Amino acid sequence: MTALGENLLGVVNKLQDLVFNTIGNDSLDLPQIVVVGSQSSGKSSVLENIVGRDFLPRGSGIVTRRPLILQLINVPSERSDKDEDHEVHVPHTPASVAGQDEFAEFNHIPGRRFYDFAEVRREIENETTRIAGNNKGINRQPINLKVYSPHVLSLTLVDLPGLTKVPIGDQPTDIEKQTRTLISEYIAKPNSIILAVSPANVDIVNSEALKLARWVDPTGKRTIGVLTKLDLMDHGTNALDILSGRVYPLKLGFIGVVNRSQQDIQTNKPMSEALSNEREFFRMHPAYRNIASRCGTQFLAKTLNVTLMGHIRERLPDIKARLNTLMGQTQQELASYGTDAFTGKEHRGSLILQLMTRFATSFISSIDGTSSEIST
Ligand code: GDP
Ligand code: NA
Ligand code: MG
Repeated sequence: MTALGENLLGVVNKLQDLVFNTIGNDSLDLPQIVVVGSQSSGKSSVLENIVGRDFLPRGSGIVTRRPLILQLINVPSERSDKDEDHEVHVPHTPASVAGQDEFAEFNHIPGRRFYDFAEVRREIENETTRIAGNNKGINRQPINLKVYSPHVLSLTLVDLPGLTKVPIGDQPTDIEKQTRTLISEYIAKPNSIILAVSPANVDIVNSEALKLARWVDPTGKRTIGVLTKLDLMDHGTNALDILSGRVYPLKLGFIGVVNRSQQDIQTNKPMSEALSNEREFFRMHPAYRNIASRCGTQFLAKTLNVTLMGHIRERLPDIKARLNTLMGQTQQELASYGTDAFTGKEHRGSLILQLMTRFATSFISSIDGTSSEIST
């Protein structure tokens, strides 16, 4: 991981915020990792493992009802302990309360730092209900959450509602169609990397995640397969064939993980213990010990980080072209405000557009290498 790489993701994150706050959608199609899978396949567990924190709402039925755009931002540790700077997922505190160098922030509550991740969970729940209502319906308006920590690798991940086949409770009858449409929109974007989560205890040919991914990425060039629940496979069976790429072709491959079980969650098994158990599982397993270094959450986080950075670098010319177009439009719009630009209601819009133009200009020059400082 180079400094340039981290800086690039930082710039893309800022751009994402700005677009989110101004246009309100992702018309720039910025590179991000989109997590898909059927309900209970282990999506939330995978995300929590990557963050090393317990912070996502849980329960039966659809829990994730709005897209969650999760920006992980690696910050240097306040501790002098150098060895741990590059260790991912090693929370020091057993409870949900993080150290002072680890906190979360929501886009909809600017300036408030959450140090207690149980509060982050409650805020996601409240904010979900606020927009998506109390029934089990879904809403397409995303929640933006940033997690700053010395224990994460910088990544942008999008958690989406899981696919359900049968509406439950007072869910709308077309809930499956709504969910499918929402997921499809995110993964259809050519700049999205698809993290297709499938449980290992269900036949891979039935994986909803892979079916969806294949639809928008038929050659499997931007899909990463994640196989969860390897610990729940029938005795005497294993997923070595799938993990070795002999069953289902994905250029970016499959990575096996073992998340916390329902019982682990109920007994509050600390994340750090779950992660070290996972490492042991792969190291000791007769079928996986030879590929143990390419299995597990830590390897998954590294792979995602490297893949996302590579992807961003590859897509830069394209992002730049689209930014130029956007800036052209913005400038026209600014010109149309004319002399009224600084009065009344348009004032704010005009300021935002100016800010955006200024930002886009510095973004482009930073890509061109003429400037490395980005400020907003
Ligand atoms: P989601 O609906 O896709 O977000 O799935 P969750 O992450 O909420 O997981 C659903 C259930 O499966 C929870 O009870 C988890 O504890 C359990 N689970 C997820 N991954 C694993 C795993 O690798 N092993 C075991 N034993 N249980 C898992
Ligand atoms: Na699935
Ligand atoms: Mg979930």
